[in-house]
Amino acid sequence: MRQVIAQLQESMIRQVANAGLGREDVLKFWFGESDEVTPQAICEAASRSLAAGETFYSHNLGLPELRQAIAVYSQGLRAPGAAALVAERVAVTAGGVNALMVAMQALVDAGDRVVVLTPVWPNLTAQPQVLGADLHTVSLRPVAGQWQLDMGALLAAVTPATRLLVLNAPNNPTGWTLSRPEQQQILDHCRRTGTWVLADEVYERLFYAGQPGQCAPSFLDIADPHDRLVVVNSFSKSFLMTGWRLGWLTLPPGLTAAVGKLLEFNTSCSPVFVQRAGLAALAQAEHITPQVVAHLQRCRDTLVPLLQALPGVEVAPAPAGLYAFFRLVGQGDSLALAKRLVQEAGLGLAPGNAFFDSPAPEMQGWLRWCFASRDLDRLHDGAARLGRWLGL
Ligand SMILES: Cc1ncc(COP(=O)(O)O)c(C=O)c1O
Repeated sequence: MRQVIAQLQESMIRQVANAGLGREDVLKFWFGESDEVTPQAICEAASRSLAAGETFYSHNLGLPELRQAIAVYSQGLRAPGAAALVAERVAVTAGGVNALMVAMQALVDAGDRVVVLTPVWPNLTAQPQVLGADLHTVSLRPVAGQWQLDMGALLAAVTPATRLLVLNAPNNPTGWTLSRPEQQQILDHCRRTGTWVLADEVYERLFYAGQPGQCAPSFLDIADPHDRLVVVNSFSKSFLMTGWRLGWLTLPPGLTAAVGKLLEFNTSCSPVFVQRAGLAALAQAEHITPQVVAHLQRCRDTLVPLLQALPGVEVAPAPAGLYAFFRLVGQGDSLALAKRLVQEAGLGLAPGNAFFDSPAPEMQGWLRWCFASRDLDRLHDGAARLGRWLGL
């Protein structure tokens, strides 16, 4: 086995979930998905596709009509003046995670310097390591309850020798979101250093800080088609389709053919009936996603005040995403903490350490709670369990 694979860390979230195996009484908030099933119209489109005998491969880059529909949908979300998005820049993938991996395979050689902003969903640091990259991380910092980017530190880390900068905004786990001026500064800097930007924007629609329906700022709003920019998106979060495995890449035109080659060697294509489900999702996007987002905002606004009412819990409402990322003051190693919460309180949360490359001492005691719950009573029940465990 390759050394880098042997050294990859086992998922800490899975370690906590394994500690709860066989326990029906645990309230599970550890994974990043809703317990709500996919809307009926999407499921029916997949069934119709199968009934019609669509059981064959598609083009590596996806069905032409889906690539076209994604380009139109994505363009509709962009700010005025954004560059035109055309189907030739879209590659359909088996979920956001496959999109990320294929993009990195296209861009990163073993030994290349890759900078990743943390805390972040662990796949974004593991994937460059799988490719043998030289990984550097820069950390956001909590300032008065809000996560902030030290722009000086980030730009200093992105040198002319840096092949790729990986950014996830809106961010999992913190909900932190890049502002438009910050995006512009990063893009300008990376144009100077010749660094590729891989922007993971799978949470762009789960944005609570703007007008209803407004997206988080996207790099696609400001970039030229020929910039060294690859944007990752997914059907998972905005359409409640985590189990379907459907996502897409937006690429500079010159990279699309190479990504098509790589898709052949990874998955060949996304299943056609899943792509048909994606078409149905996009056709009803402005019916489905606003409802999903409004419900998620209710979940956030239910959970965060319950946590804020517990002495010893530090938490602020996230401007975006699916998570309350909070700290239990005075607690140490968050992996041990999350395992204890499973065993002693029947409460399943993700340990903060899973999202840092090597957490600084002030980053201890953090936990991530996925608040996407169909039933708001589960959130009340979970917060009550935490309160009892804290002895309140
Ligand atoms: C930041 C981030 N990127 C990408 C993904 C990938 O999602 P999927 O592969 O389900 O599209 C996730 C899933 O949790 C995520 O949190």
